[in-house]
Amino acid sequence: MSNKLTSVKDYENYAVNTLPKPVLGYYQGGACEEFTLSINNRAFNKLRIIPRMLRNVQNRDYSLTVQGNKVRLPIGISPCAMHKMAHEDGECASARAAGKYGAIFILSTLSNCSLEEVAHAAPDTVKWFQLYVYKDRAMTISLIQRAEKAGYKALVLTVDTPVFGIRYRDIKNNFSLPSHLKLGNFSEENSKMSKTDGSGLTDYVMKLFNDQLVWDDVLWLKRITKLPIIIKGILSAADARIAADLGCNGVFVSNHGGRQLDTSPATIEALPSIVREVGHQVDVYLDCGIRQGTDAFKALALGAKMVFLAQPILWGLTYNGQKGAEDVFGLIINEFDNAMALTGCRKLDQIKKEMVVHESVFSKL
Ligand SMILES: Cc1cc2nc3c(=O)[nH]c(=O)nc-3n(C[C@H](O)[C@H](O)[C@H](O)COP(=O)(O)O)c2cc1C
Repeated sequence: MSNKLTSVKDYENYAVNTLPKPVLGYYQGGACEEFTLSINNRAFNKLRIIPRMLRNVQNRDYSLTVQGNKVRLPIGISPCAMHKMAHEDGECASARAAGKYGAIFILSTLSNCSLEEVAHAAPDTVKWFQLYVYKDRAMTISLIQRAEKAGYKALVLTVDTPVFGIRYRDIKNNFSLPSHLKLGNFSEENSKMSKTDGSGLTDYVMKLFNDQLVWDDVLWLKRITKLPIIIKGILSAADARIAADLGCNGVFVSNHGGRQLDTSPATIEALPSIVREVGHQVDVYLDCGIRQGTDAFKALALGAKMVFLAQPILWGLTYNGQKGAEDVFGLIINEFDNAMALTGCRKLDQIKKEMVVHESVFSKL
């Protein structure tokens, strides 16, 4: 039998058989019983794509302008902490993999490579910086200024993490950053995770992250940076409305990969009402559970301007560093391209809502 890896699942299976248990648990796990984690992808499978015929699909083009930057495709890489546990080249490798396809790469505050290292390693990749706000405001401001200086094009403010989700696997495995690694954006002091009975990362977050943030802090952020501000972790039309009214530049529909509030909705379920509320006003992005190009197509049909993915990149990195990340990303892009062709779309604006139908429609026939 051939060992060729042809799907994200194949890469995930490789990682499952390779990574140390605590690392796998952290990368793969979700909050509590992992219900939301489990529906993130399943919810996509409740949607059917209706193919269209005889529309001349030669020379397909998916390029678009996002936050003022031209990118080659509407699929990017979500912020994700600690890539060096998958491969020693860490985020530098993932950022370069994004660059190969002209895609956006979002760097996590909790990366192993510093934001400057990533900027240096992938100068041609369009990079956004994901921000966690620390109790120490000076430290937070310094992160923002460094990201601006290093050429990051937007700030992605993650708002779904005032406290960390309860992650059973991390607690069971006493997960902590392996001692040979550090958080690249911080001094030794602020990079340390305790070796506790339970999750060292949760201790870190509880100690350092600001759990008093309110919407007014977004105005504070707007005052101290000229970068576009995208609010990540939105699951309700009500919050999307507040973000848009405050003048944020994008709303990022995300449940943090099912890692925060268990039983929160799958993002593809939450998307339509958010698009209805603010889609005419600001960009709406989505991540969580995208495992095939068809998932990306469905989210775009329902109004997302772009989609992002995290776990598949980690599986690719685990398999073969930058090349593995490129290969797994390439699979999804190829599937997306295929879905475009088979639905008769040559350009992104030809993807229409009517092309996606919920399975319940068929059961009524
Ligand atoms: C291992 C891991 C670490 C993550 N770290 C961060 C992070 O540092 N900041 C953040 O905003 N989101 C983080 N996320 C959430 C992702 O940005 C994203 O919302 C989600 O994982 C996307 O879903 P997917 O993994 O199903 O593609 C992390 C996700 C994973 C799997």
